[in-house]
Order: sequence, then C-alpha cells, then structure tokens
Amino acid sequence: MNALARVRELLRAELRQRVPPHLNFWHILGGLTLFLLFVEITTGILLMVYYRPSADEAYESIFYIMNDVQLGWLIHGIHSWGAQLFILLVLAHLLRVYFHEAYRERELNWVIGVLLLLVIGAFAFTGALLVWDQKAFWGTDAVRRVIAGVPLVGKAILYFLWGGTELDANALLRFYVFHVGLLPWVAIGLVAIHLYLVSRQGLFQPKTFRSSAQETYADVVLRGLIFVILSFGIILTLAVIFPAELGGRADPLGYQSVKPAWYFLPAYGLVKLIANKTAGVALASVGVLGLFAAPWLGRNSWVAWGLGMLGIAAVALLAAYGWRW
Ligand code: HEM
Repeated sequence: MNALARVRELLRAELRQRVPPHLNFWHILGGLTLFLLFVEITTGILLMVYYRPSADEAYESIFYIMNDVQLGWLIHGIHSWGAQLFILLVLAHLLRVYFHEAYRERELNWVIGVLLLLVIGAFAFTGALLVWDQKAFWGTDAVRRVIAGVPLVGKAILYFLWGGTELDANALLRFYVFHVGLLPWVAIGLVAIHLYLVSRQGLFQPKTFRSSAQETYADVVLRGLIFVILSFGIILTLAVIFPAELGGRADPLGYQSVKPAWYFLPAYGLVKLIANKTAGVALASVGVLGLFAAPWLGRNSWVAWGLGMLGIAAVALLAAYGWRW
C-alpha cells in the first residue's frame, strides 16, 4: 500500500468513529468562528495589496479598490460583511459556552476567549478608521474625546494608540500597524492556545442538550462543511446586494455626527447615558472584568443564569439607548 492510500485508509477509519454523545449541534459555532477568522485574514491580505496607509492616499486607495481593481469591490464587501458575521458568531459562541456552563473546569480557556473577544473588538475599531471617510474619522474621533477625558491615564493611552492627542496621519498609520501587523498575530496565537486547551481538556459535557443520535465524525464534518458553505454564501450575497459603502473623504474641519456600528452600540449608549467620562469608562471596565470572572461568579447554575440574563438585558438596553440617541 503506498503512502497516499495509507493516509486515505487512516482518514476513513477516523471518520467512521463515533463522536462523544455530548457533542451537539451548537458546537458548530466555534468552528464557524474559526472559518470566518480565516476569511477575514485572507481578504485582508488581498486588500493590503492596494491599500495605502497614509492620510493623503488611504481614501483614494479604497476608492480605487472599490472602482478599478478587478473584483476589488467584492473582496472589500466580503471583508466588511464577514467582519459583522464574525462578531455575531463569536457572541453566539460565547453565549453557547456560557449557557451550557461549558466554562466549568475550563476557566483558563474562558479567559483566553474573553481576550479573543477584546482582540476582535480592537480589530473592528482599528479597521473602521482605515477607509478614512467622514464616518470613519468622526466615529474614531468621538472615542478619542472620551479617552482624552479620562484623568491620569487618558493622555498616555492616546499617545500609545493614536501617536498623539489628535486624530491625524500618525493615528492612521498606527491603527494600520495594529490592524494588520499586531492583532492578527495576537489572534492567531490566542486561537492556537484556545484550540490546544479544547483538545487537551476535551469538550465539556452539558447537562442539557445531550444528543441521543450516534453520529460519526463523517456526519459532523459534513454538517460543518454545509454550514461553512452556507455562511460564506450569506456573506457573498450580502456583499453583492449591499456593497460596502464609502462616504465623503475625511475632513478634519467638517464635523459630522455619526452613529457607531451595531456592535459598538452598547458602549455608545453607556457614554451617552453617563455624562462623566471617568465613571463611564470605570463602569465599562467593571463589565469587562465581570465577563472575565464569569466562571467564578457562575459556580451555581441559578446564579449563572440570573447573571447571564442580567448581562444580556443590560447590554440590550444600552444598545437600544445608543441606537435611539
Ligand atoms: C476567534 C474567536 C474564537 C474561536 C475561533 C473559538 C473557537 C472555538 C472552538 C472551535 C471550540 C470547540 C468547539 C465549540 O465548543 O464550539 C471552542 C470552545 C470553547 N470556547 Fe471558543 N472560540 C473563540 C472565542 C471564544 C470566546 C469569546 C469565548 C468566551 C469568552 C470562548 C470560550 C470557549 C470555551 C470555554 C470553550 C470550551 C467549550 C467546551 O468545552 O464545550 N471562545 N472555541
């Protein structure tokens, strides 16, 4: 038997094995998240070929990608819609893990997960500025003003992230470096640790959602592939029907009030609700710390459900407030 036939035989034997009975449909969310990370990195690399990270050329290079580069508009659309679906799936995966209480004895992996969530937030925030249109500029500048209002550390944070206290070419270059040079490596490193821990610790056995069907790995792989194709189809369709938009070129003298993307609405709502910026930032930090501490706070199932529902209600109300404002 040659090497190829041997690999095929081994693979076939593996695929015929039965999966553990507690592996259920919802485990697909983690896998799909992984697929979308791959889509974002691939389309991001393609966009980098034509993108210019300077205040003089950034907007024009995006315009060029969207209008002159072969299928540039589609790659840009996939990157933009893919990012939204990615965030949606990460949140769904987080809720799945939380409400199955799959963080039990997997505290470290939960913490790695929350770090991944923050990295994904940073990806979305730094990526938004790169198009350098009015919405990108004034949306990012609103955050700069919030950070500038935080006593003691505000200025230091701005110097580190913005490269100064104003939003200018320095900030654009820094955001670009974070978006394409730093965050992808941090994300890949964290995902590698995350998956290593999943394989080492095995999947948690939830009390609920126990599957009675005796599935094989082939069934699970096939289902996964179907959902991968389906999610990519959704992104493609959205990118074609609603191509990514580009507003007017960023004008530092032409103020424009802008609403943030849906995933930043809870933070926006909080800023609008609490006038004192220090108090607002402190409250948001408590929320993030609470998320980190969830496995220890939710030792009892009833407490975990209560806290989970409370957290969802708070985030939804803040988002609704941010939306209406
Ligand atoms: C880029 C982001 C992420 C990727 C690619 C990812 C991927 C995965 C995959 C493939 C699994 C195994 C299958 C499954 O349980 O769904 C998993 C499990 C897990 N994930 Fe994530 N994840 C991400 C973000 C998160 C976040 C934000 C959290 C929570 C804050 C989290 C917490 C966990 C935990 C605790 C497990 C183990 C669950 C169990 O044993 O059943 N992950 N992740």
